[in-house]
Amino acid sequence: MANIAKIFASRAQGVLQAAARQPQVATRFSSSSTNNWEYIKTEVAGEGKNVAVITLNRPKALNALCNGLMKELSTALQQFGKDKTISAIVLTGSEKAFAAGADIKEMVGNTYSQCIQGNFLNDWTEVARTQKPIIAAVNGYALGGGCELAMMCDIIYAGDKAKFGQPEIALGTIPGAGGTQRLTRVVGKSKAMEMCLTGNMIGAQEAEKLGLASKVVPADQLLGEAVKLGEKIGTHSNLIVQLCKEAVNTAYETTLQEGLKFERRTFHATFSTADRKEGMTAFAEKRPAKFTNE
Ligand code: CAA
Repeated sequence: MANIAKIFASRAQGVLQAAARQPQVATRFSSSSTNNWEYIKTEVAGEGKNVAVITLNRPKALNALCNGLMKELSTALQQFGKDKTISAIVLTGSEKAFAAGADIKEMVGNTYSQCIQGNFLNDWTEVARTQKPIIAAVNGYALGGGCELAMMCDIIYAGDKAKFGQPEIALGTIPGAGGTQRLTRVVGKSKAMEMCLTGNMIGAQEAEKLGLASKVVPADQLLGEAVKLGEKIGTHSNLIVQLCKEAVNTAYETTLQEGLKFERRTFHATFSTADRKEGMTAFAEKRPAKFTNE
């Protein structure tokens, strides 16, 4: 825990110092070209350095999700996804904004035919495709595509001043990356309709009450708490965590009977893994399990 404290103390210091300063926590990418991010920052955190932190870093535009940012985010997710030393990923923004939505200025001139032929927003789905657990650590605004991005993650932790909303209606459009679908599944029709048809925002406490966020923490402790959560997940078998994530996600994609069948078969499948055997043996022998992700 002492290491985590050091990491976050140094992050706070960094805010006060030159913006161009090197991050205190070394990135884990071996290829130097992927470290030259323009719109994001990537770090590894946690005592075992097994939690990746991706920070959206376009502060002047409140992390509006321009094409360049979304491409970098996809690339970073793919790289962390392949990195065997990473157990969980935290996605965060700034204290003022997780992300204020798709970049309105970038898309203002888009035409219908361009949207159709370019399959606009199709490349936004990497977050939802990632097999490792992703925790959204949301401070400030999570609006439009920002709220949708948070909802693509597996768990949302909210800073106490976070604000969630789908304000697209005020721009003469509708949510395009899951706002009418994922939000409705989480908060129910009445609340989702209210939010999507008015553009009204909800605060962190309400988001937690509705089940949109799983926890609310003081804004300055948010990242530390999200990393701790990633570390806790990382104490388990990465392989079984992946299967478990897939099973929970199946609940959103299928009927109860189909979902229960999928869960049962996946449960059975864990009996073909070394980690299931090790977990149960360690319990019986009253010792900590040593998982090998096999
Ligand atoms: N796109 C582009 N630029 C944005 C932006 C966005 N979504 N949100 C904020 N910005 C820019 C502002 O234009 C401003 O830039 P300038 O300094 O160059 O003028 C800068 O960020 C700071 O913003 P504000 O001055 O507006 O800050 P504020 O504190 O007064 O207000 C806010 C904050 C309430 C979040 C306000 O910025 C806002 O309403 N933003 C737009 C939110 C929105 O409508 N999001 C939905 C986008 S559409 C979408 O996401 C579709 C989809 O489903 C994928």
